[in-house]
Amino acid sequence: IEVEYLNYEVVADEGWNLDDDDLFEKAADGGFDPADYGRFHVAENESLLEAAENEGYAWPFACRGGACTNCAVAVVEGEMPSPASHILPQELHDRGIRLSCIVAPESDAKIVYNVKHLPEVHDLLL
Ligand code: FES
Repeated sequence: IEVEYLNYEVVADEGWNLDDDDLFEKAADGGFDPADYGRFHVAENESLLEAAENEGYAWPFACRGGACTNCAVAVVEGEMPSPASHILPQELHDRGIRLSCIVAPESDAKIVYNVKHLPEVHDLLL
């Protein structure tokens, strides 16, 4: 399973929006550093956060247990079900926000990481 990722700081710096239809096309053409934009594979039994770390990327986290939202990502495309227990309000979950420490993609996916800087998520930070 392959994940295409983009740093939310790039989205904010460029003045883009998470729901831009061409968000990942713009990212692919942007010449960004591999830490900010790229793709990696997620192995079985790996969380999304672990997969990023195994690629050498330092994505934000704190609790690693679904209790703090520091590791939040926005799923733009793909299936990434959450386990039953996590701290996210239903409204954010419905908008595709996930906690990378406790989810793994079930299909190829496009995700924006670092969305703890998104105002709605930032308000929840513990
Ligand atoms: Fe705390 Fe993922 S690191 S919820």
